[in-house]
Amino acid sequence: MSTFSHVRGLGFHVPERIYTNADLEKFVDTNDEWITTRTGIKQRHVVEDETCLDLVYGASVKALADANMDADELTHVIIATFTGDMPVPATSCVLLERLGIKNKVAMDLSAACSGFVYAIEVARALINLDPSAKILICGAEVLTSRVNWEDRSTCVLFGDGAGAAILTAGTEEEPGRVLDTLLSADGKPALNLTIKDSGSAHPYRLGDTVGKENFIEMQGREIYKHAVRSMTAISTEILAKHGLCADDVDVLLPHQANMRIIGAVGKKLGVPEEKVFVNVDKYGNTSAASIPIALAEAKESGFIKNGDLVLLTTFGGGLTWGASLIRF
Ligand code: ACO
Repeated sequence: MSTFSHVRGLGFHVPERIYTNADLEKFVDTNDEWITTRTGIKQRHVVEDETCLDLVYGASVKALADANMDADELTHVIIATFTGDMPVPATSCVLLERLGIKNKVAMDLSAACSGFVYAIEVARALINLDPSAKILICGAEVLTSRVNWEDRSTCVLFGDGAGAAILTAGTEEEPGRVLDTLLSADGKPALNLTIKDSGSAHPYRLGDTVGKENFIEMQGREIYKHAVRSMTAISTEILAKHGLCADDVDVLLPHQANMRIIGAVGKKLGVPEEKVFVNVDKYGNTSAASIPIALAEAKESGFIKNGDLVLLTTFGGGLTWGASLIRF
């Protein structure tokens, strides 16, 4: 790629309502000690009346303001989600209407938790095709709409939220340059996290009742092992490709699924704990929203400083995984 792509603005939005681990104890057979030691999660934000579009809108407005840009300047909108308002129309199309704009390219992208990093690469390719492109990318999920509250091995893990970024072309020296992104996937069923209903393999008939297949099911242990392996390998690969090593990384920003996974990846890469951004304790796993929420929060709080080299790394259902290097 010859044109440089830059992150110009960041924003995130989460619902106000919070379920702490103690709140979950009231209706799930679980306890704070198990959730904290197994995952590091202390609370998650949960929608009341909001839909995915509301979260996307909140994050997008903040990212546009951060980029000092009007919505009408956008050329493309890409939303990474598997819990959009409905299968059709795409949440990205409906967002145009909510933002009061039209005649833009709009698409949703499905790569589960890796969706935002996949969207970075799609945006980079589009900017390379047309350097005048101004692209809003967003990761957003209402995972609690797809959580089986009777399955304690999954329901304690997930939360709702959205994060957004604006990407445009820029010069090599400007801050926010995306140096590179690497992506991968493996569709082996034994590894997977699934929501089976509403797909053509599990069509509805009138009068069908809701079953387990309407909700998230996953092979937790297999995903855990694969997550550590894949995020470590792809992070090592992207650093090596650019002649960099762990010491060059100022901030490691991994997908916020589980504190033990984050800790294991940091350790294997040789990035010290104080350089690893963590907010899984506050939000749980928000899937495609996890990386952009963390990125916006890390930038806003000063954890990411000007000049820092930030390594994003992610994995998710599919399975999918990826890494991205950004110089802020
Ligand atoms: N509260 C209390 N006990 C529980 C709970 C709970 N919420 N959930 C499970 N247990 C019990 C189990 O019943 C089991 O009990 P047993 O030994 O008597 O049978 C015991 O705890 C151990 O269960 P495991 O599933 O073996 O626990 P493990 O240590 O593997 O941790 C976990 C489970 C946290 C899910 C872990 O495997 C993990 O984090 N995996 C990765 C999952 C992930 O990140 N998925 C997201 C993918 S990204 C995406 O696309 C959205």
